[in-house]
Amino acid sequence: MDDVYEILKKRLGEKKLQNRLIRQVNHSSDIISYEHINIENFSVIFRLGRYLLKAFNSYDSGYRNALDIQINHNQIVLRKLPKEFRNYKILHLSDLHIDGNPLLLQNLADKLQNLDYDICVLTGDFRYRTSGELQPVINSMEELLPYINKGKDGILAVLGNHDFIEIVPLLEELGIEFLINEHKIIYQQKTPLCFVGLDDQHFYRNADINEALPQHHNNLCKILLIHSPEYISQANSKMVDLYLCGHTHGGQICWPDGKPIFMNARAKNIFCRGNWHYEEMKGYTSNGCGCSGMNIRFNCPPEITIHHLIPNNSVD
Ligand SMILES: [Fe+2]
Repeated sequence: MDDVYEILKKRLGEKKLQNRLIRQVNHSSDIISYEHINIENFSVIFRLGRYLLKAFNSYDSGYRNALDIQINHNQIVLRKLPKEFRNYKILHLSDLHIDGNPLLLQNLADKLQNLDYDICVLTGDFRYRTSGELQPVINSMEELLPYINKGKDGILAVLGNHDFIEIVPLLEELGIEFLINEHKIIYQQKTPLCFVGLDDQHFYRNADINEALPQHHNNLCKILLIHSPEYISQANSKMVDLYLCGHTHGGQICWPDGKPIFMNARAKNIFCRGNWHYEEMKGYTSNGCGCSGMNIRFNCPPEITIHHLIPNNSVD
């Protein structure tokens, strides 16, 4: 584990690493932080919920729903997308919470095995709980890897509010590349497309797009990876073209008309599920693959998303 801290210190610098670690200790298990209720840490609510659902014979159907992963193909037209990236395909997985349900890994692998994509992006929340052991997560990600590593441009990831920064070197060793307030440029026929990845803004308030993106990249087409839809106006002011996130699980438990009972984000509900836009910026908030709190879903299926990118001038 010492190695992990040495690697992170070299990458982030001592001060930034120290700040992140202090925030992890202070906020990861708080029920209230920054005047926001962290429902993830409210274990009494989930114990009570489980008890009530079992009493009303609804738990088993919610559990089955949680494993009924949908594959959604989503076409996104981007004004600044270079024509070389026409029909570029992004496999977008979010909120795996991979150690939370022993059946999830195989279920995901079955759904992923025949999919075709250029890059995989993981928008945070690898772990089920907000603290605790990392090794079960690493082991499961290692098993999942062959199913998400088929794109020619590899795998990019960002941290979620359930993830401690110590997970970064361990998953990078497997071939998952993290962007922690950093960017990466992908080329297609020598034409660039810029991916920007930010740290978690929900618990850790540590997203910093100015740190991630140098001024001279302002004119590039930019795709932002971030865990939650809680950084929209800042991203828009930096002329981000596409904002990809998760975190909300689409509500996870919704009324029959799809409206969430509770949405765990400091953002309007229109930004918390599926496609949306904010001025010129397009966005997509994934329902996620896994669950938190309880392994149940109602009227809000888990999803694997493939975004098909289309330049503005080639819409039929
Ligand atoms: Fe999550």
